[in-house]
Formats: sequence, structure tokens, C-alpha cells
Amino acid sequence: MTDRLFEAASAAMAKAHAPYSRFPVGAAILAADGTVHSGCNIEVVSFPEGWCAETSAIAHMVMAGGSRQIAEVAVVAEKLVACSPCGGCRQRLAEFSGPGTRVHLCDAATGVVETVTMGELLPHSFATDALGEAKG
Ligand code: THU
Repeated sequence: MTDRLFEAASAAMAKAHAPYSRFPVGAAILAADGTVHSGCNIEVVSFPEGWCAETSAIAHMVMAGGSRQIAEVAVVAEKLVACSPCGGCRQRLAEFSGPGTRVHLCDAATGVVETVTMGELLPHSFATDALGEAKG
């Protein structure tokens, strides 16, 4: 399964729209129902408006309409030996995963270089049951 995720992330990276950074990234998610959803980074001339490969992959998982529970993730970047998800993407991935969810950091040529957990990537993450409740 790790190979399949790496291959899906690599295929997604080939579709990156990264004309400004020239830093293509691909991500692939294995959902709890066995489906795989991938995404690439998409940049915009107004730089802050672009988004990451992990975010694209999450959008594909949600829109597929099946399980939204992330079982495993793979991330690959052409120019980095092991691309670790940015802070914003860690929070987005955490929304759909647990502290034990494994994230595979991959090298474009050789595959998985390091596997870390969401708990390691985002310790002490923000969480509360108080959202949407009336005060007091
Ligand atoms: N990028 C990702 O797609 N995922 C990450 O985890 C790190 C950064 C993208 C954003 C931007 O398009 C490019 O890499 C350079 O920062």
C-alpha cells in the first residue's frame, strides 16, 4: 500500500501548477474505506492564494463522498528528499486523522524516506468541544 500511495503522490506531483516556486509537490491519502485520493500544489500569481498538495488531496477525498477518515498519507516533492507537510496542512490533515495516523515523507526517486505520525507532526494541537455553543 505504501508503494501505491507513493505512486499516486508522484503522479499528482506531475500535475502541479507551480510556475512561481518551481517546487512541485504531490500528496496521496489512503482513506479508511481503502480509496486513494491525490492532489498537487496549485499556485496563483497573488502568492498567498495558492494552496498545497495535501489540501488538494483532502478536497478530493471529501468530494469522493466515501470515508473521510485518513488512514495514511504520502507526500513527495521533486526537489526535497523528504517533504514534511507545512503547518497549515498539518492542521487540515489532523481534522481527518488521529495522532497515530502515519505520514510517509518520500523522495521522488526512491520512495519513502521517513514515516512519522500526525501526533509527532502536530503535538498539542488545537481541539475543543466549545465551538458553536452559547456562552455560559
Ligand atoms: N507545498 C506543498 O504543496 N506542500 C507542503 O507540505 C509544503 C509546500 C507547496 C506550496 C508551494 O506551492 C510550494 O510548495 C513552495 O512552498
